Amino acid sequence: MSANVLPASAALPYAGTEARATYNDKVVRQFAIMTVVWGIVGMAVGAFIAAQLLWPALNFDIPWLTYSRLRPLHTNAVIFAFAGCALFATSYYVVQRTCHARLFSDRLAAFTFWGWQVVIVAAAITLPLGMTQSKEYAELEWPIDLLIAAVWIAYGVVFFGTIVKRTVKHIYVANWFFASYIITIAVLHIVNNLAIPVSPTKSYVIYSGVVDAMVQWWYGHNAVGFFLTAGFLGMMYYVVPKQAGKPIYSYRLSIVHFWALISIYMWAGPHHLHYTSLPDWAQSLGMVFSLILLAPSWGGMINGLMTMSGVWHRLRTDPILKFLVVSLSFYGMATFEGPLMSIKTVNALSHYTDWTIGHVHAGALGWVAFITIAALYQMIPRLFGKQQMWSVKLMDAHFWVATIGIVLYVTSMWIAGVMQGLMWRAVNSDGTLTYTFVESLKATYPYYGIRLLGGLMFLSGMVIMAYNVWRTVRDTQPVDVPVLAPATSH
Ligand code: HEM
Ligand code: HEM
Repeated sequence: MSANVLPASAALPYAGTEARATYNDKVVRQFAIMTVVWGIVGMAVGAFIAAQLLWPALNFDIPWLTYSRLRPLHTNAVIFAFAGCALFATSYYVVQRTCHARLFSDRLAAFTFWGWQVVIVAAAITLPLGMTQSKEYAELEWPIDLLIAAVWIAYGVVFFGTIVKRTVKHIYVANWFFASYIITIAVLHIVNNLAIPVSPTKSYVIYSGVVDAMVQWWYGHNAVGFFLTAGFLGMMYYVVPKQAGKPIYSYRLSIVHFWALISIYMWAGPHHLHYTSLPDWAQSLGMVFSLILLAPSWGGMINGLMTMSGVWHRLRTDPILKFLVVSLSFYGMATFEGPLMSIKTVNALSHYTDWTIGHVHAGALGWVAFITIAALYQMIPRLFGKQQMWSVKLMDAHFWVATIGIVLYVTSMWIAGVMQGLMWRAVNSDGTLTYTFVESLKATYPYYGIRLLGGLMFLSGMVIMAYNVWRTVRDTQPVDVPVLAPATSH
């Protein structure tokens, strides 16, 4: 991709700036486009496994097409490929613009892009082949884990190097969130994946028994807390004020909820291990910290929503604002539901049921995917020298088809989950079980059908987006934006 440098006077937003140095937006463009590509791939696999749950014949008796191998492919593709590329793209975009500095190193930035794509392709090959560490969200075998560690360290150097060379004194709050996510994911990844390799494709994790379970869910929950939450809050703190055209509602609140969020998340992991052989006190500790977590989570939601107050009238015409409002609402909902599900007696009903799957996708589709979509619609035209996306109508269509899709997905799983939980615990007066497991499965089928429909709608929204992105960028030359002169005050 060859890039043009905009003359200082070419477009209004850049007028008055010297064209001394430019931002490194090449890597941002690469990650942004791959976010759309991996989003479609990961969600297509999601829709396929949703169909397999409805029609088991779709397993085709082919080992690498079985549900058990494709499910981790789905989770890895949507979390690390889709959400991961989105986080790389936005953190690189935001850190440069809020620090008024080009990325610390172009070479290292390019290494993070190509290295991350190799990780994704390696995952897409090895998971269907059945190579796995059997740790949820950390299935990849040790050679890929080593590459992830190398890419992540390079990412840290690029990000923190840019913070160090900033030309403004202040470090904007979005960067605090990105920084915490980068540091924490490095620590989680290294500790959780400590393993003894026995061959290039097989290793054994060094932990065993309940210690292994605790390390795994310390990792798993903080992957939610830092990858799927703190990183996306960083994104939110740039995209929302930018789209609303206003400063954030409360800078003080953003700092307070940042420190509260990152210190509380660390302790909540045991709520994934209720009623297991994990000591009871540890389970209760996890529950209490999960309940407290509601406050800093809602601090972020309130700060985002209040930043948009005063521009509600634009909701009718601005699809990006619509995505943002729904995204923050789902963030609020998932972070209300999570503490509720962490209460032991509630978890006794919800655990192992599709309620958990509903909760996951309220967060994953409603919060993570929607804020990503909003960020991409905001960034992509700017990265390619356009004022806005090719079609606002298609953005609107995307919004509605995706919103209805999420509602179908989440509500069907809620109903299915509570129904399963109640059927499994129902007992007759003589103490025997009222329902067999197969009866509960049969009762779930209609809801699997509704979930599949919702998932297909969400996926078609992504395809609409891909078409709109293609029409927006196809006849453009990538634009390198000059670095803003250091602000005199902030
Ligand atoms: C078209 C959209 C999607 C569809 C149709 C879909 C479908 C599915 C299905 C069928 C499962 C397995 C459920 C089960 O085990 O019973 C699943 C699991 C999962 N999906 Fe999705 N998904 C979609 C999008 C996403 C996105 C965007 C994310 C994350 C950003 C995501 C994250 C997850 C996670 C973390 C799990 C594992 C949940 C658990 O183990 O409790 N999904 N998905
Ligand atoms: C205050 C915030 C939150 C709390 C306290 C919380 C709590 C919980 C609880 C109690 C479970 C069920 C554990 C089980 O029964 O096995 C769960 C599962 C899950 N949550 Fe949350 N949640 C929160 C926010 C979120 C958000 C925002 C997302 C996504 C973006 C998310 C993603 C997940 C995933 C992926 C799982 C399934 C893990 C698995 O078993 O594979 N959570 N959460």
